[in-house]
Amino acid sequence: MSDQLPPEVVRVYIMGKEYLVPNSLTIQKAFEYAGYKWVRGCGCRGGICGACATVYRYPGTYKIEVGLACQTVVQDGMYIAQIPFFPAPKATYDVAQMQATTQAVQALYPELYRCMGCNTCTKSCPMEIKVMEYISAVIRGDLPEAARLSFDCVMCGLCAARCPAELKQYHIAELARRLVGEHLQPRSRDVVEQTRRLREGYFAKSLDELMAVDLDELKKRYVERETEPQEDDPNWTPKDKAYL
Ligand code: FES
Repeated sequence: MSDQLPPEVVRVYIMGKEYLVPNSLTIQKAFEYAGYKWVRGCGCRGGICGACATVYRYPGTYKIEVGLACQTVVQDGMYIAQIPFFPAPKATYDVAQMQATTQAVQALYPELYRCMGCNTCTKSCPMEIKVMEYISAVIRGDLPEAARLSFDCVMCGLCAARCPAELKQYHIAELARRLVGEHLQPRSRDVVEQTRRLREGYFAKSLDELMAVDLDELKKRYVERETEPQEDDPNWTPKDKAYL
């Protein structure tokens, strides 16, 4: 099939129709190359927002593959279908009124205990997050570990879409991170202080000035910005943990 094509071109099938596209394109760009216009799911195009979860399969196999359309490069013979996004129901809550416990998570997501350990969620994750492991951490009450393991989640929903037990892993992880941030992690004194100053209009003038500078200057200032000490910073001292 592809041996009749130049090496830099591959044949893909989008919604069943054949297209020849450069082999360097991502699925997202291949759609555009083929003439599709992204109206929804175009997102960040950089593997961060999770808006572009997509499914495809390779020739000669029935197995459905999943990935982020903006990150997955096309391969010869790929069958691609764009399906609607994955709006798994999300609980509403006031995180400040909750406790950082498994029971609090279970009250909102009772399907938590239906996890049967099949690991399909982990295999589906385009960010290579150990999804099943963070669900296990939630179940055993280790919310900080769940927050740590899920930190890179882009909320694409592929884990939930593939889960036979119908867990909404990415919503559960988000709740775990919020509970940890609200109740278990020390407050960042700088964030608290800067938030207060922001509310009082302390930065209004400098924000106006910032809006007027060009992109290069903005990048320079970002690189040179001050950051608060981190625990792996050699200059970090225990007193830095004495947050508000
Ligand atoms: S478009 Fe944002 S992750 Fe793909």
